[in-house]
Parts: sequence; structure tokens; C-alpha cells
Amino acid sequence: MKRAKELDVLTTSLEMAVAKRRPLDGDETLVPVTDYTDTERFARERERVFRHGFNVVTLSSRVAGPGDFVTADVVGTPVVIARGDDGRLRSFLNVCRHRGATVELRAEGRCKRFVCPYHAWTYNNDGTLHRARHPEGFPTLKPQEHGLVELACREAAGLVFVCPTPRVTPEPLPQALVDELEVMLGPRPTAYASTTRTWQANWKLIVEGGLESYHFSVAHKDTIAPFFGDTLSLWERIGWHLRSVLPKRSILELQKMAKGQWNIRDHTHVLYTIHPNAMILLQKSHFDLILMTPLTVDTTQIEVVTVGTAPEVGELSGQARAFFTNNHGFSLRTLDEDFRIGEQIQRGIPTSANTHFRFARFEGALSDWRRRIDNLVE
Ligand code: FES
Ligand SMILES: [Fe+2]
Repeated sequence: MKRAKELDVLTTSLEMAVAKRRPLDGDETLVPVTDYTDTERFARERERVFRHGFNVVTLSSRVAGPGDFVTADVVGTPVVIARGDDGRLRSFLNVCRHRGATVELRAEGRCKRFVCPYHAWTYNNDGTLHRARHPEGFPTLKPQEHGLVELACREAAGLVFVCPTPRVTPEPLPQALVDELEVMLGPRPTAYASTTRTWQANWKLIVEGGLESYHFSVAHKDTIAPFFGDTLSLWERIGWHLRSVLPKRSILELQKMAKGQWNIRDHTHVLYTIHPNAMILLQKSHFDLILMTPLTVDTTQIEVVTVGTAPEVGELSGQARAFFTNNHGFSLRTLDEDFRIGEQIQRGIPTSANTHFRFARFEGALSDWRRRIDNLVE
């Protein structure tokens, strides 16, 4: 984040905290509860929002050197992400061009060539077909046209983005956001703890839980609420993405400090909502990456990854590892409070208690985000 923007955000946050003023920048919005249960709408969301978007899949640090690869399921599509010997990161459908077997079964590794486990066609780590075994049996095969099918893939701020639909290249992250994330996420972001779980809730309930601060002092009273004011937050749209900032109570201390010493990470909680599948929660010196996969209309897989800066040389100390493990546990406790409520909401929908849910005027980010998703799918 540019220093001028940081000071600007802190000044507004401080004014808000002093005045205890909630910004009424949104409209009161009613959303039909069927948006969370309609399977046809869900199919359109999965296709247009996720399968046509740049999903955050992993960290560049996992595929840092030539030949490094990871495999993943990206919204239902088997994908391999590999750094070629030329240093370029590419992603491919993990599907053999002979008779469709999964080419690479390992979760990660390093290799020059991928060997299909069915009949041993081999592919170079840039995706080109190296060799079809016994080529005399395939007189019409054009090897140059039978490389692994490439998918759009980008790296930015240490994150790897993949679009799982061939021949689709989504809008990349705006440069202003890339520049901001590079500063905020730090050099060499590396995963030190990760937990994956499937929750019985529509994916929008998961995103919406991160876009408002109305619930904060109530739902998080046993964990982080004591550090924050009641329903105080500001947000900004950056392209398709959002930055939400929740001032901590300690922000009042800035009144006694020179501006040169103001630091956004000391006195606020910053959350980026990265369209379509990720949230980044900044902590004091590291961050949590929350990756979401919509499985069905009422189930969402969520991976929470605690990420820190790797040392320039050597391994992390035992003490540093313990720090990340403890912080991972604490983040899970807090996030689980949100996800559990998501499950409760989903369970309540078929009761017909509500025809609509209500977003308040001080929850402008919710209404803005939902309007844009609705435009994509309706
Ligand atoms: S399916 Fe891959 S080599 Fe036959
Ligand atoms: Fe929350």
C-alpha cells in the first residue's frame, strides 16, 4: 500500500473511531433467500464467476525453481502448474492427450518431464509432447499439436492465479492492487500451516461474512471482538476486488503519535476480498490466505493457509514455526465462528422464516459486491 493511501485510510479510520460514526454509504438492500439455494443460479455462478475467473490456487514459493510443479483441482478441473526450464510458470489441464488419463498424480515435486501412468506418453515441463511411446502406431498424430492443453496462469505478489477454462483469459489483478499486495504480503510468502474443511454453506455466505463489521462485536465476542469498535469499518473497491479495513480500539493512540509512526497493521485489521475465490487477512507480520471452492449450492470447501516470509537463507527456526502454528490455530478459531454461522443460516433458509435477507446502509460493501455478482449471473 502506498504510504499516502495508508495515512489516508488511518486518518479516516481515526476520525470514524473518535466520532463513533458508521459510514452510511450504501443502500438498504434486500436479497432473496433463494439466491442461496437455487441450483440453476449456482451453476451459473460456478461457471461465470469461478470457472471464468483467475482463481488463486497456490503460492509462487511452492513452484519457485525450474521443474517445480503442483497439481490441484481448480473448481472441478484437474490442473498441473509447472515452472519450465525457461523459468516461466504455466498451467495445464492435467489430462493426457492420448486417452485422457491424469498425467501427474503427485501433489507436488520437481521434474523435467511428466510421464503419463497409463501408456507412458511423456510431456516436457513446458507442456509440449516429448514422445508418444511406439510412435509408429500413430501415423496421423501431429506431436506439435498434442501438448498438454494450456490454461491462463499469472503470478502476482507471490500468488499464483489460474483460470480453469481453456481459451479464456480473465482480467488480471489491477496493477495498483498488485503493487499494494506486494508491499503488504512481503517478500517470499510461504505457507507454514494449512487446514482444509468442507462447510455446509453457500459460498456467498462465506464471502459476505468478510464484508461487514456489524457482526464483529457479537459473533466474535469470545475471540477478537474486544480489540475492535462496534460496526466501524471502511472499504474500497479495487477493480473486481475489495479492501476492508476495521479499526482496532487502539487506533485512538494515533492521536498522540506523529504521523511518521503510524502503521496500518498495528491499529487495524485489513481484509482483501480477491475475486472470485480468495480472501487475504493481514496479521501483524504475516497473513492468512482463505481459498474457497464452491462444491454444490450448499457446500463450500475452504482452505485456510497461514503464510509468512521465508528466511533469505536456510530454514525457519523452531520458534518461528511454533509462532505460525499457534497463530494458525487462533485464526481457525475466529474464522470457524463465521463459517459455523454460515452453516446455521443455510440450515434456516428452507424453514421459510425469511423471503429476503437485509443488508444495512452501513454495509455498503455487501450491497456493492452482491450487485456485481448479480450482474454476472442474471
Ligand atoms: S492415456 Fe496417457 S499415455 Fe495413454
Ligand atoms: Fe467474522
